[in-house]
Amino acid sequence: MKVTIIAGARPNFMKIAPIIRAIKESSKSGNNISYRLVHTGQHYDQKLSGSFFDELNIPTPDVNLEVGSGSHAAQTAQIMIKFEQELIQHPCDYVLVVGDVNSTMACAIVAKKLHTKVIHVEAGLRSFDLKMPEEINRMVTDAITDLFFTTSDLAGDNLMKAGIPSDAIFFVGNTMIDTLIANLDNLRAPDIFEQQQLQSGNYWIMTLHRPSNVDEAQKLLGLLTLISSNAAGKPVIFPVHPRTANTLKDLGDLPANIIFTDPLPYLEFMYLVKNASAAITDSGGIQEETTYLGIPCITLRENTERPETVTIGSNVLCGFDPEKMKNAFHELNSGNWKKGKIPELWDGKAAERIVETLLL
Ligand code: UD1
Repeated sequence: MKVTIIAGARPNFMKIAPIIRAIKESSKSGNNISYRLVHTGQHYDQKLSGSFFDELNIPTPDVNLEVGSGSHAAQTAQIMIKFEQELIQHPCDYVLVVGDVNSTMACAIVAKKLHTKVIHVEAGLRSFDLKMPEEINRMVTDAITDLFFTTSDLAGDNLMKAGIPSDAIFFVGNTMIDTLIANLDNLRAPDIFEQQQLQSGNYWIMTLHRPSNVDEAQKLLGLLTLISSNAAGKPVIFPVHPRTANTLKDLGDLPANIIFTDPLPYLEFMYLVKNASAAITDSGGIQEETTYLGIPCITLRENTERPETVTIGSNVLCGFDPEKMKNAFHELNSGNWKKGKIPELWDGKAAERIVETLLL
């Protein structure tokens, strides 16, 4: 069985690493399964791409389509044009896509039109917010997927409501959490930890990169000011995504207790998350990683496609409502944050289950 694995943007890399490892191990023990790794080049900076391959021991991709940045249409189109050629030259039994980025949807469409079966890992997540490009990517991908691997029962319910037969859906757990568990002993402090004299449990970690939060300069400044003034004197460490950096460069003075840094390698970033007293984010993956680690998480979004991080985990949604944010900061500062639990099957073995299922 030949599986072509697609990776394009930062959050994909943690999800494919354990799948590749599981395929290699299965093949070593005599099973007929091999992979080809295609990097679309959606993310290309060392800090958003290369460092993840190095640290997570992801093999060098067999091919990099080098599509780079562009509008949604331009980027999606480029990925489709280049991946079509790639798949014609290197046919396979399955194309495996993960998550919800433009590369996920573009490669799923190409595969299906070339009559190649599509596997979607992290299928069935829904925010029901069609203003998010990722929601469109999820819906389109799931509409043409053949095998659905899910991180929660709820994701399976979403798929069944859309008419997907239950025997195509496999609740296997979370490959992003597989990577976190596999690397917990390897996390290391970034230079900024010592430079800023950070202490475990005495700073916040923050990431913001959604267009709705960061594309408008005044809105971003408003968020930073609110967060800074509610941090009770704690430093707030903010590794800045290039999209956000682009907006920040037009702003003047920024709050002094927010410490800006470049995007960090995985092992350093997760060290900061694990040791923070709280995370503030609009990322999907960080809602899950903080839930696994039991770190309070304030999500600056109106909705989440990962509701179990709120109902079971340590996450709270604040939207863009300053009152909700202030309440959340108050809970945090008074030490009253809810105690979360780890969702079912987030146990480090999702990728093994995926490979076992493929071989059935
Ligand atoms: C993409 C994903 C988003 C994911 C995020 C993680 C889509 C629709 N969005 O958003 O779901 O949460 O990745 O980072 O697929 N840029 C660089 N270097 C790079 C890549 C991008 O500087 O290596 C800059 C470019 O100016 C680019 C901008 O970042 O225009 C946005 O990149 P893009 O890949 O379009 O989307 P992200 O915002 O990163």
